[in-house]
Amino acid sequence: MTDMRQSQIFRTSKLEEADGPGHNPTTSPTMGDIIAARFSRRGFLRGSMASAAIAATVSPVALLAAGEARAATGSVFNFPEVEAGVDADHHVAQGYDADVLIRWGDKVFADAPDFDPLDQSEAAQERQFGYNNDFVGFIPLDGATDRGLLVVNHEYTNEHLMFPGIVTMQNGEMVVADATEERANIEMAAHGGTVIEIRRETGKWQPVTDSPLNRRITAKTQMEMTGPAAGHDRMKTSEDSSGRTVFGTINNCAGGVTPWGTYIMAEENIHGYFLGELPEGHAEAANYERLGLPGASYQWGNFHKRFDVGQEPNEPNRFGWIIEVDVMDPNSVPKKRTAMGRFKHEGAESVVAADGRVVFYLGDDERFDYVYKFVTAGTYNPDDRAANMDLLNEGTLYVARFDEDGAMVWLPLVHGEGPLTAENGFASQADVMIETRRAADLLEATPMDRPEDIEPNPASGRVYVMLTNNTRREEANAANPRVENAFGHIIEILETDGDFTATEGTWEILVKCGDPSVAEVGATFSTETTKNGWFGMPDNAAIDADGRLWVSTDGNSMADTGRTDGLWAVDTEGDARGTSRLFYRVPVGAELCGPCPTEDMTTFFVAVQHPGDGGDDWEGHGRPSFYEDLSTRWPDFDDAMPVRPAVVAITRQDGGRIG
Ligand code: FEO
Ligand code: CA
Ligand code: CA
Repeated sequence: MTDMRQSQIFRTSKLEEADGPGHNPTTSPTMGDIIAARFSRRGFLRGSMASAAIAATVSPVALLAAGEARAATGSVFNFPEVEAGVDADHHVAQGYDADVLIRWGDKVFADAPDFDPLDQSEAAQERQFGYNNDFVGFIPLDGATDRGLLVVNHEYTNEHLMFPGIVTMQNGEMVVADATEERANIEMAAHGGTVIEIRRETGKWQPVTDSPLNRRITAKTQMEMTGPAAGHDRMKTSEDSSGRTVFGTINNCAGGVTPWGTYIMAEENIHGYFLGELPEGHAEAANYERLGLPGASYQWGNFHKRFDVGQEPNEPNRFGWIIEVDVMDPNSVPKKRTAMGRFKHEGAESVVAADGRVVFYLGDDERFDYVYKFVTAGTYNPDDRAANMDLLNEGTLYVARFDEDGAMVWLPLVHGEGPLTAENGFASQADVMIETRRAADLLEATPMDRPEDIEPNPASGRVYVMLTNNTRREEANAANPRVENAFGHIIEILETDGDFTATEGTWEILVKCGDPSVAEVGATFSTETTKNGWFGMPDNAAIDADGRLWVSTDGNSMADTGRTDGLWAVDTEGDARGTSRLFYRVPVGAELCGPCPTEDMTTFFVAVQHPGDGGDDWEGHGRPSFYEDLSTRWPDFDDAMPVRPAVVAITRQDGGRIG
């Protein structure tokens, strides 16, 4: 039997997510962990005892501000704020509809079987929408606003919510049965991504299951390694002597859509999929340790030897990359782009710079890891899609150093420059890309508080970096100013002259997150932010067509902060800067991913990930949540259906522009 808590740690708990070794391989709880647990788990904000405790710590100024809280003046947003809270359903601002567009198990192909949770199979899951939707992108077809391809990542699986009859309760803890081969194969088919055509008819979006462009990508889909590490000896396995053919993708977190309309999938927490032990003295030992490999959260390696590092020691080098998918050809072979580095890739949002080169912003989501950007060598050709299809094979990867004085430098990860030489174990650019983290360590990049999504704003030349939390930080620096940072912060970068290819820039903190009425949290939302408007743990973000910032969160979704995760609208300009308002919130246990506003701003697609994963601390459930005893059955609320992750389309009831 697998201990549930152990196996779920890296996948489900924000505070413990990405719990690899990083620079600071501490395993015992720090003061930060304890404080975080107090804020997030002990009902710190609830109950009379808690109120007394707060009263003792709240600053009078913050109390005054909270009392005067009102709609922000000068805000670029205009919608009635949702009330923060926790319950079994989702909620959107008044005047808007939030309609489920596609759920786990729904047909991606017209001939797919109907979803039957009691009779799941690999073959069925390969034809159905996968689990735990994360990144969402929308690629219009033929320039239409009412027809396009929805591209969605399926980051990971929650077995205790997916499969009947595998959880037993022992001493109040969930224990999940070991995977069978069949279950492992269903899990693999529930990973990856979905490409599905959607159309809007009479104001509502619907999947088009008979579109020839529909596609499922899974942990078994054949892919091609491209770029400097492709074909290198470190990429070869017993089944692939070329080092260029790999099967599948895992832990696809956020991603992107390129200016030429391809779909980008980021491979994030790859470590948990590998088990076994490297042969004694193996050359990859240090490389794997830096990534927390093998993490052994999944048991696929019991049935597929490539996920057992004892049997296939190079296989992990074939994961941890950015992948590009040509969605206009459902038979195209997805390309892993090794020029963009190998780490726990959160996402890859891009912008075309003034000179036509394309810049991708990349976060490495681990405590004390780094912020990167990739600048293509070639330029984007808006008139010839085919000419852009290999742009991601050549370019320069940079890692960020944030200086104390508000300046910053982008340090190039180029073989032969600075310390990136053979003396330090980098024989070629392939080595630099395979061990990107170690190369960045040598360049003395700034260790950050878990970099997640990074969003460039093409209109302003500014870039927004979501730093979700880092409760293990013991030493602050200017760019990560809080020790034991439980609630995260957002950094705003201004590239020199607004040029996204610049190698220098300046930065400041847009907001330190958390409850501004609790003095010791040190949150810095504007005083116009209401009690509903603050959030912790920024994760994904979007810049809409009007240049406005939207932030979705991962980790508030425990009753004890008094609020679930959701989508917040955050002002960045003028007097309203730092004002946040709640637009949409998710059901208990969920995080919100993939905020994707359409170009015409009439639809906001969002991904409700792992709903029902938790509920112990919510008075409406108050115990562990699993298949037979769920904290919510969103979105169907049908006793015959488990809770199901889903993509939701938010529209205004009058059809107008959102927000
Ligand atoms: Fe998968 Fe960093 O969130
Ligand atoms: Ca994320
Ligand atoms: Ca997340």
